[in-house]
Amino acid sequence: MAARPANAAPIGVFDSGVGGLTVLRALRTALPQEDFLYLGDTARLPYGTKGAGTVVRYALQASQLLVDRGIKCLVVACNTASAVALPAMRTAFAGLPVIGVIEPGAAAACAATRNGHIAVIATDGTVRGGAYPAAIHALRPDARVSAAACQVFVALAEEGWTDGAVAKSAAQRYLGELFGAAADDSPDTLVLGCTHFPMLIGPIRAVVGGKVAIVDSAATVAQATDRLLQDHDLRGNGNGRLTLLATDAPERFARVGSAFLGDAIGAGQIELVDLNPAGRRAGAGTPPR
Ligand code: DGL
Repeated sequence: MAARPANAAPIGVFDSGVGGLTVLRALRTALPQEDFLYLGDTARLPYGTKGAGTVVRYALQASQLLVDRGIKCLVVACNTASAVALPAMRTAFAGLPVIGVIEPGAAAACAATRNGHIAVIATDGTVRGGAYPAAIHALRPDARVSAAACQVFVALAEEGWTDGAVAKSAAQRYLGELFGAAADDSPDTLVLGCTHFPMLIGPIRAVVGGKVAIVDSAATVAQATDRLLQDHDLRGNGNGRLTLLATDAPERFARVGSAFLGDAIGAGQIELVDLNPAGRRAGAGTPPR
């Protein structure tokens, strides 16, 4: 069991790349007195198209770096990593509070739905892992869950094509049938189960219509993190200091990430880190299958 973390330590936020900055943005708004240490594994993204064993290995390696730098809790902002690697992370970092985005999103969806039909859109890996339906059914066994992989949304968000014809046509193609006028049993709640999808809220809302409740896991995880800090008596009294780490391409991180964070990031602000220096502990042994 690790020593109890200090209140003054930063909150660690981990994502496969820049997408988790949407979660960081919500965290900073909800918790202005906390300092944050964010790591985007830009050298190895996307996680959403990779196999579960690879994502678990990457997630453990990346998070180990944050743990080594003395974080007081870990927010796994990446839905794909949360979906497949959370149990392995909780085991590896016993004693450190670790929170993922799936359970808060599932709880918010269960609270929002009236007809019990919840749609979840996410990456291929998150949908394949089945974590959202499992978390929803744990809370509401009678719920109907329709999950759809919307992989192209990730590229559109990073390209900044968040509105206009291409984004609208992708949203229509992914969601049109599920939310079509002919389907009177269509979902009344939609979970944005990927860090990037809040960037496409305009075209998504245009297809699903005004009556569907849209659950943004960024906002829900910020509330859950606040509760987690309270429960562990770990609330900080900092001034919102932000440290950004990336495993590759700091210029791209700064350019693309600024829109996700909603705040200008300079490339000079980003510290480049290597997850595989000789001697680093996590991932050095047999990779989890
Ligand atoms: N961060 C990932 C997620 O939320 C999306 C990007 C990726 O596939 O790595 O699932």
